[in-house]
Amino acid sequence: MKNFTDRVAAITGAGSGMGRSLAIRLAREGCHLALADRNATSLAETAQLAQAAAPHIVGSPLRITTRVLDVSDRAAMVNWAAETADQHQRVNLVFNNAGVALSSTIEGMEYADLEWIVGINFWGVVHGTKAFLPYIKASGAGHIVNTSSVFGLFSQPGMSGYNATKFAVRGFTEALRQELDLMKCGVSATCVHPGGIRTSIAQSSRISSNMVGFMLANEQQGKDDFEKFFITTADEAARVILDGVRKNKRRVLIGRDARAADWLARTLPAAYQALVVMQTRRMKRIAEKRARRAAQVDARRA
Ligand SMILES: NC(=O)c1ccc[n+]([C@@H]2O[C@H](COP(=O)([O-])OP(=O)(O)OC[C@H]3O[C@@H](n4cnc5c(N)ncnc54)[C@H](O)[C@@H]3O)[C@@H](O)[C@H]2O)c1
Repeated sequence: MKNFTDRVAAITGAGSGMGRSLAIRLAREGCHLALADRNATSLAETAQLAQAAAPHIVGSPLRITTRVLDVSDRAAMVNWAAETADQHQRVNLVFNNAGVALSSTIEGMEYADLEWIVGINFWGVVHGTKAFLPYIKASGAGHIVNTSSVFGLFSQPGMSGYNATKFAVRGFTEALRQELDLMKCGVSATCVHPGGIRTSIAQSSRISSNMVGFMLANEQQGKDDFEKFFITTADEAARVILDGVRKNKRRVLIGRDARAADWLARTLPAAYQALVVMQTRRMKRIAEKRARRAAQVDARRA
């Protein structure tokens, strides 16, 4: 798809981060939007920001619709796809972007937490793909964009739930792209692997208490350390994603960290794991030292 003007794009997780930035960039190019998020307030804010970014064409305002939903709810996603096709008369693109993060050891992981992340990060992508595909095919020209992660390329201790969902999104989307190529139906697919992007994902993540003492000194330190790796802005990430769609790329890597991780996992597919363990041990020691110092300061103050 070479340009987005007068197309219709559906975006999940549009209330924040990359979803919001995609909405604003697409609106700027004159693309009509169907936005979804579980957070009604932030979703409404994105709709306003996108409307403000839209070009002012007299007699042809940009159409932006919103739907509050949970992407893990299959019926809600199926209804939203039908509603979008009805309200906009067509759908050309879907960005299955909504996602959450979970930090936990496998040994101590609650099944409820694993089911939560699989429901959103994997099933949300499956529902978005299957619900929108018939409408996108009917449009004659479309694209499905599924967000995996750098953690869909390599694994890390404490991230097994996230790793599992993001590797699954990658496998699902690569097979989808191959099927669409075989069908020659005018629809294509791209798998997106962002590195660290400055968004709200760390602060809204679930960090299990079993991580404290295993790899982290405390929950907030875990979230703050996670954010130190966020080197790319959400706006830049959205630019790279849309560029990838224009070029019909099969995979899009965002950031030099994602490119380095991809290279490492492909060059040293087994040995990279030992390197990750070494690096994690080092970070754990630093975190523990920092926690001890903070405890001493607290004790002196008390
Ligand atoms: N930020 C990063 O460093 C990074 C790196 C790699 C991959 N990703 C992936 O990028 C995608 C976008 O994340 P982001 O970084 O912009 O995060 P974000 O937290 O800023 O935005 C995620 C949005 O998804 C929404 N959401 C969460 N669960 C939902 C649900 N069940 N139903 C509907 N909406 C829901 C949230 O309300 C939020 O608005 C996610 O799939 C994430 O896993 C992010």
